[in-house]
Amino acid sequence: MNRAQVINAIAREIGAKSYLEIGVQTGKTFRAVEIAHKVGVDPDPQWSDQTHLMGSDQYFSQNNQSFDIIFVDGLHHSEQVYKDITNSISILNDGGVILVDDCAPKKEIYQRRSPAAINWTGDVWRAWLKLRARLVDWNTCTYDIEFGLGMLHKRSSVKEVISKEEREELLIRSEGSYKEFSASFDQLLNMKTAFDFSESWV
Ligand SMILES: C[S@@+](CC[C@H](N)C(=O)[O-])C[C@H]1O[C@@H](n2cnc3c(N)ncnc32)[C@H](O)[C@@H]1O
Repeated sequence: MNRAQVINAIAREIGAKSYLEIGVQTGKTFRAVEIAHKVGVDPDPQWSDQTHLMGSDQYFSQNNQSFDIIFVDGLHHSEQVYKDITNSISILNDGGVILVDDCAPKKEIYQRRSPAAINWTGDVWRAWLKLRARLVDWNTCTYDIEFGLGMLHKRSSVKEVISKEEREELLIRSEGSYKEFSASFDQLLNMKTAFDFSESWV
């Protein structure tokens, strides 16, 4: 499964009619997404149809639309990702879903602040742990698809409540070393398999 297939499966399930992608690049995912109304944001894309040519902060400051699915895949620095996700929450329609790329770097070299490997994830994981700790009334998990696809949707049941102790640990680990994070990788990210994804969404 790739990210576009994930987005399309969720779109079918929730009947999504609108899609926002932060960080479009070549448009590979954007073009494969089958949702009627699509908006892209990228200050330096390699494909610019349907794309706002600006950074995400500027886009959010002037936007007045809301969306059913938002894919956060812009600048891979934790503080920017944190802002992109919180801004996305404020314009997400009821029942909508936010997906975040590159939450689960399996090697230290992938997650450095400056790209040091082809599979650069940046330190997206730090923002993702912080948000998992703070968004207590949302369901958050990370699918083991590509480099870890984080998913966030408003809790419709209480089956996956994060305890106070887990929240404290998430916050501590979000500021700690990659080594400490990787020692409890699956638990901190609430990792799920592609099979789990299919069971829930397909
Ligand atoms: C990993 S690529 C996106 C890949 C694309 N989402 C896909 O699945 O095919 C990251 C993109 O984010 C863009 N970007 C960098 N800073 C950004 C910002 N502040 N706001 C939005 N996009 C940004 C880059 O120009 C780059 O094209």
